[in-house]
Amino acid sequence: MNAQHWWQEAVVYQVYVRSFADSDGDGVGDLEGIRSRLDHIASLGVDAIWLNPCYPSPQRDHGYDVADYHAIHAEYGDLAAFDALLADARDRDIRILMDLVPNHCSNDHAWFVEALAAAPGSDARSRFYFRDGRPGDDGSDPHGNPPNNWMAAFGGSAWTRVGDDDPQWYLGTFTPHQPDFDHTNVDVQLMFHDVLTFWFDRGVEGFRVDAISPVGKDPALPDAPPVPPGTGMLQVTWENPYTVFRPEGHDVWRRFRTTIDDYMDRHPGRDLMMVAEAYMNGRPDLMAAFVNDEQFHQAFAFDLLLSPWVDTEIERAIRDTLSIMTIGSTPTWALNNHDVQRIVTRLGRANATDPNTISNNALEAADGAVDVTRGVRRARAMITLAMALPGSLYLYMGEELGLPEVLDIPDDRRQDPVFLQTHGERIGRDGCRIPLPWTDDPSTNFGFSGGEDDIDGDATPADAWLPQPDGWGVHAVDELDGDDTSILELYRAVIAARDEFAEPEGMVAAVVDLGPGLVAVRRGDLVAVTNTTSEPIALDMDDDLVEIATPVFASEPAEMHTPGVVPPDSTIWLVS
Ligand code: GLC
Repeated sequence: MNAQHWWQEAVVYQVYVRSFADSDGDGVGDLEGIRSRLDHIASLGVDAIWLNPCYPSPQRDHGYDVADYHAIHAEYGDLAAFDALLADARDRDIRILMDLVPNHCSNDHAWFVEALAAAPGSDARSRFYFRDGRPGDDGSDPHGNPPNNWMAAFGGSAWTRVGDDDPQWYLGTFTPHQPDFDHTNVDVQLMFHDVLTFWFDRGVEGFRVDAISPVGKDPALPDAPPVPPGTGMLQVTWENPYTVFRPEGHDVWRRFRTTIDDYMDRHPGRDLMMVAEAYMNGRPDLMAAFVNDEQFHQAFAFDLLLSPWVDTEIERAIRDTLSIMTIGSTPTWALNNHDVQRIVTRLGRANATDPNTISNNALEAADGAVDVTRGVRRARAMITLAMALPGSLYLYMGEELGLPEVLDIPDDRRQDPVFLQTHGERIGRDGCRIPLPWTDDPSTNFGFSGGEDDIDGDATPADAWLPQPDGWGVHAVDELDGDDTSILELYRAVIAARDEFAEPEGMVAAVVDLGPGLVAVRRGDLVAVTNTTSEPIALDMDDDLVEIATPVFASEPAEMHTPGVVPPDSTIWLVS
């Protein structure tokens, strides 16, 4: 089978709009900044850009709290700027995907403001989950306790009381600033139909659909059963069977899919898609329930992203992800995103080789020495392995620069609600969202502010919205560009190599065993081999798979001295 749709083998570049490029010097990224830096994205050879939410928002979860689904956040530009970006991207054969947030909106959304002002039982409240509270502990207030015991994903109760003299509370799975929609409400259904259509009409080719797991609830909203002992504080929500991966959610996705399919029927030539965001690691069976002809086209597989640097774990991640091809879908890989610590840091930690390290996730860990050089080397090996695999791959801006996680942001500059809602108990995700370095000039926030065309070049820009560390310029695009040993040039080369050597081999691939310490995947005549150890490993040249194979690509090309030897912490591609 070869790819039938552009997205099945696409490389997609994720832009965290706030942190990519700032054209007007206010210290915040914007659409014009992206437009001025499109050549960088195009130079990688990617097929599409996924924009993190850029709708009007009070930014309490940096856009994942949408106040209006039909417009652009003023700090980022306006619809005209969006149209200009899309047109310029299209000129470079790059499609635009938007981020759709269906589970919740912002508490500044007009519907929610209306609901707060409306009476219990009103139509305005029925678009959300408003319920009467239960009696308070001392009995003095008949509605003093939340309607049930559900916990919010970012800390505290999932319920917020409307006011002391109001019997009702509202549900926010993530934070009180993000009230959950009730998708059984017809207004909500029609609004999302309109939103999809509105952006398709503007030329968007698809959506990354945010946080699909809590969409759809048991209508009775029962108390959640006790969680297994040792469940982390931020994991509690995801253990709640009454709000996670509910059958009711599938109705929502079927409606979205109908909107998309009907749109394509009316617009021949458009090839639209939606990709689901949910952490379904080790559960390809669960993924199969969401990815099919009636629901999602794709769902992210985060298994590889969360894998430690251990051969057997990486193999498991790849096997599980490849297995979704049996249900007619194609794997959707990612090694980074705006919610987890950057791969350089994860794989540079001493515990990266511990099979029990499941994530090193930003929500969990901040400690442990990081060997950045080793982390970069393993990141190079991992992307070279991932690029050999069938399916699509979503890159997160800055991974092509080998950016590490910034762990030492001062508390008073941290902005992630994960940090704020847990009162600092979890450091949150700011460290992977630091504005990108484009040059080594600290006076322009390392080229982040000012834009390539130096739009407001005369003015001194405001500080970047999250502080960039001293020396951030060593990772700058300008510094790495043209240096063959840089990770940036590796990214460009490996995407080109994927087109040349991997894609023509078709979509069938399998993990093969070449010995301990090695991860090997065969795809047609291509075999990608990763050495996860810190010693070179000589391949068994009698093995049928490698006997007459020629090395065509390597994550550490300068070390390819002896044929058949895979350098430590590196990946090679062989073609027979
Ligand atoms: C998703 C987003 C994350 C956001 C959350 C709530 O997990 O990726 O950034 O905070 O949903 O919308």
